[in-house]
Formats: sequence, C-alpha cells, structure tokens
Amino acid sequence: MRSVTAIAHANIALAKYWGKADEALNLPAVPSLSLTLEALRTVTTVTFTGAARGDELVLDGVAVTGGRPLERASALLDRVRAMAGLRSGARVESRNEFPTASGLASSASGFAALAVAASAAAGLDLTPTQLSRLARQSSASAARSMWGGYVALAARAHEAEPVAPWEHLPLVMLVALTTNGPKEISSTAGMKHTAETSPYYAGWLASAPRVFEEVRRAILEADLERLGAAVEHSALSMHASMLAARPAVRYFAPATLRVLDRLLDLRRAGRSAYATMDAGPHVKVLTSAGDADPVEAALRELPEVRSILRSRGGPAACVVAETVR
Ligand code: PMV
Repeated sequence: MRSVTAIAHANIALAKYWGKADEALNLPAVPSLSLTLEALRTVTTVTFTGAARGDELVLDGVAVTGGRPLERASALLDRVRAMAGLRSGARVESRNEFPTASGLASSASGFAALAVAASAAAGLDLTPTQLSRLARQSSASAARSMWGGYVALAARAHEAEPVAPWEHLPLVMLVALTTNGPKEISSTAGMKHTAETSPYYAGWLASAPRVFEEVRRAILEADLERLGAAVEHSALSMHASMLAARPAVRYFAPATLRVLDRLLDLRRAGRSAYATMDAGPHVKVLTSAGDADPVEAALRELPEVRSILRSRGGPAACVVAETVR
C-alpha cells in the first residue's frame, strides 16, 4: 500500500478564464494567465487502500460522505485508476492551509495536489504537463497550479505552461478578505449561465485574447503599471459579462467597491495598487515590494476588510512524502 503526500499552491488569474469551449472535456473558451501564490497551499495525502469499496475523503479534518466534492475527487481518482490499471478505492486527506470558509477558491490547489498525490500513489510517473492535463479535467484553473510563478493556459488547451518565474516581476499580492457578499454560485454554474444568457458574453470572448496578450507582454517586460491596468481590465470585463446575465451573476459586495475606491486613492497618491476579483467578493491587490506596507495599511483601515494575506509568487506542485507499507 503506497501513500503519497503532495503540496500545491493556489493561483490567482491575472488574465481571467470565464467560459468553456467544451463542457464535456472542460476546455477553456479564452486564454488565461495566473500567478501561483506561496501563502495559499493545499496539502493532500492519497492512499490506495486495496479495498474494492468506494473512495473516502477527509477535508480539513471533516469526513465528506457525499455530494459534489466527493464526486469530483472520485472522478479524478477514476482517471488515475484507468491509467494505472487499478481497481482499489482510495483514502484522500486534504488540508487547506488558508481559510476555506473565506470564499477563496481552493479548487485550483486542491485538484492540483490531488492529481500529483493520486498519480504517484498509483505508481504512475507523470510529467508536469500530463499532471496539468489531469488536474485541468477537474478544474481548468487547477491546470495552472502545476507550475510556479506566472503560468498560462491557452484557449482550448489541454494543459497549462509556464511563462516566467515570479522573480522576473517580483510583485506582491495582498489578498483582502472582505465581509461577505451575495450567496456565491459555483464558477461552473456561473460560466454556463453567463454563456447562455448574457448579451455581453460574445464581447468577452472577442476581447479576452487581446487582454491576455497585454498581460503576458507586461509580465515579460516586467512592467507593473501596464500589467496592473490590463489585470483590472480583464477582471472587470469578466464581471461585466456576468452582470449582464439574466438574472445577473454578481459576486461583488459593497466591500468590494470600497476596496476598489481605496485603490484609486492610493494610485492618485502615487502608489502601485491594482485589483482583481474572482468568483467571490474578495479583492486581490497587486503591488510592488516597496509599496506593499503602505498599501496594506491603507486597506486595513477599511472596516469592510476582515483580514489580509500577503504573498509572493509560489513554487510548482510537488510530492513531499511517500511511504510504502
Ligand atoms: O477553474 P475554475 O472552475 O476554478 O474557474 C476559475 C474561474 C475564475 O477564478 C473566476 C477565473 C480564473 O481564471 O481563475
């Protein structure tokens, strides 16, 4: 019986992915580009138990006995079993080393860590590209967590690819956890509803590749000001396409806008501070090492900001322990 523990870090998209080109294969409709974050990580241990019964999942110390999280984990394990010619059930223990109740996406680091741990526990020796493909089938953003630093996932791509190490443009990410917004809907459901009902979805599909290219170029040229402007445009265009759905998909809370206002003030005062938002009310702020302290202090003054996590770029997903009994 082989037990493998893997670590993967969450990533935040700088050029956003929203919408699927193929729902069954889970292929993204637009290209995306992210930064893997050191401060947000998931630690997952997988053991193929040898028993014929189903899979067991323990998330942050709590047994999950049914529902979507267990189904999604089992679907990834099924693909690993098919590749390895295994029939055994698996025990999965996964811990998010960041507040999960915060509404921060844990699916990217979760599925990346699961892909690495499960394939190694099954005796497979997969390349990062093959692991990225395996993780992407569960969650497209998880494909990007297979690598450290800046990572791209092209439209209709099966796997992500590294763009540049974080050291190339060593920005600081401040994750501002805000007071809660409206009840959140899953990214999969939100994308589908946007694609089906928003008249602006076509505009999003047409403009996202150009914005992706601007983000990529700004990173390669290590230009934080240009990157920040393109990153905000990507996030706000994505949210605009959702807001025009019927009924609207709205993740923004009053707190989200308060943080955006504060960033405008900071920029007027000469600071580098740019926002991006995902499927939740929280704001991730890109800033420079030199501006991180005053920007963080200014955000902490807002009563709507519950806490702030500070992160630099993080490393690739990897195996950290392996035991054979
Ligand atoms: O891959 P999913 O289902 O976790 O969707 C990710 C969607 C966003 O976080 C909003 C954007 C992105 O590119 O990460």
